[in-house]
Amino acid sequence: MKEKINKYLEEINSFIAETPDQLEAFRIKYLSKKGIVTGLFAEMKDVAPELRREVGLLLNDVKNKAQDKVSSIKDNLAQKETSTDKSTDLTLPANFLNIGSRHPLSIVRNDIIEIFSRLGFTVEVGPEIEDDWHNFTALNFHEEHPARDMQDTFFIEKNPDIVLRTHTSSVQIRVMQNEQPPIRSIFPGRVFRNEAISARAHCIFHQIEGLYIDENVSFADLKQTLYYFATEFFGTDTKIRFRPSYFPFTEPSAEMDISCFICGGSGCKVCKHTGWVEILGCGMVDPNVLENCDIDSEKYTGFAFGMGIERVAMLKYQIDDIRLFFENDARFLKQFTSAT
Ligand code: PHE
Repeated sequence: MKEKINKYLEEINSFIAETPDQLEAFRIKYLSKKGIVTGLFAEMKDVAPELRREVGLLLNDVKNKAQDKVSSIKDNLAQKETSTDKSTDLTLPANFLNIGSRHPLSIVRNDIIEIFSRLGFTVEVGPEIEDDWHNFTALNFHEEHPARDMQDTFFIEKNPDIVLRTHTSSVQIRVMQNEQPPIRSIFPGRVFRNEAISARAHCIFHQIEGLYIDENVSFADLKQTLYYFATEFFGTDTKIRFRPSYFPFTEPSAEMDISCFICGGSGCKVCKHTGWVEILGCGMVDPNVLENCDIDSEKYTGFAFGMGIERVAMLKYQIDDIRLFFENDARFLKQFTSAT
């Protein structure tokens, strides 16, 4: 009996299975109801009483070893199956990650910020939801000014005193209320106007405002600052010109054109054959505006300017439809790169 048991033990120890079927055959042979282990236990009754204890221990050993073998081979086979699974087939082509790219409006905004920061301008932001005072009244807009009209401004239905800011000039007021001169900052942000969406116009767009207040700031400082910006952003050959204009919060006011950087001034589609493209509004801060913010207009003067980021980006990259910026089509967005 002991010899027989040892033979089985050897067989169990050296057993290997390549397939689940071979393993199942082994399990049936040893561990099923009519298997070897059950048979051996049945033979115990014929074993001499003084040997029973020893044989009993051996039989338990056979049973345990057979069970251990079955479970360890089962684990092995299961592991093998997952490692040959398609998901880890190293010969399959890789799934490349789609790496994102910076939005063209962010690129242009960052480039503009970087240029003005070289001149010592800091960046500040203000709220997109404004009150009438910051968006209009403090900026010297007359009560009857057409810009307050429903056609241009989004009012909050329950409180017409609250508006979605129509320009970043409202941030001028907030900054001047909180800081005394010298002030030298730019304010990037979203603005909102109740306009029909077309290739040229959108009801949401972005501006960058600039404000410089100190003693003895003159229109010459304004010109030099914006000339520096234009040549840094559009190229060293860029020329600028100022046309008289009107804004309630600046006096005198101007619009600035740059020589067309596509044709160099000889005339093309982008500049509508004039050789010039308009890029921003600007002027000397109206003394009324300074006084509205408790800044002494006898002591301080300043200039302000505001430009549309979409407009600048459309010129720079020759994009002819403003809606592309808001559609989030990855094929469009992927085309722009910048160092910043
Ligand atoms: N806020 C003006 C606009 O939205 C631009 C501007 C800003 C003009 C600052 C002058 C000074 O058109």
